[in-house]
Amino acid sequence: MKHLLRYISIAGLASLSGFAPAQESVQSQIDTIKSVLPKFAIPMREVGDRFQNMYFAAKGGNWALAAYMSKYMDKSMNPASYTKAEEYQSWRYFYDTTFDPVNKAIKAQDFKAFEKEYMSTIASCNACHASMGYGFIKVVKLRKPANNGVDYKVPSKPGDVPP
Ligand code: HEC
Repeated sequence: MKHLLRYISIAGLASLSGFAPAQESVQSQIDTIKSVLPKFAIPMREVGDRFQNMYFAAKGGNWALAAYMSKYMDKSMNPASYTKAEEYQSWRYFYDTTFDPVNKAIKAQDFKAFEKEYMSTIASCNACHASMGYGFIKVVKLRKPANNGVDYKVPSKPGDVPP
């Protein structure tokens, strides 16, 4: 018991002094946190998968799943708005403008329009890769979804996605 108490008080002191990051300036703590947050590469993996999955959701008439994939394809990029603020603006423009016809086709549950817009978007994904020095990352459309753990044919409406 005595030992335990001593240990607790040492641990308490330690956390108030040397071992805790309390001595670091707030700025350097922020810099540390920022340095471990995702930039582009990590969320782009998610963008890639959600983009592929979206196609099969739309094709299967699971329009809520297609809308959901699109929504979180965009949201997955959120950390980059902080870690790569300037480059993130190009993503914003891409999603809000270039990708908008795909989102409109999802809302209209129009697979023909969706497929046309979706296919032409792939060139824009790759144009951004090239412009940022990643021309070797060339998106190609998969024959099957990137993830097979969900049913792409559940009938649903785009508005079924909770806010
Ligand atoms: C704003 C520019 C931009 C747009 C638009 C963009 N990407 Fe990317 N993407 C990047 C960059 C930059 C990388 C390389 C990541 C890095 O190293 O920081 C990348 C990497 C990737 C990767 C490789 C991820 C990995 O590490 O395995 C995939 C897959 C990908 N993008 C898919 C897409 C798809 C699909 C689209 C279109 C729906 C798209 N990207 C649109 C900039 C973009």
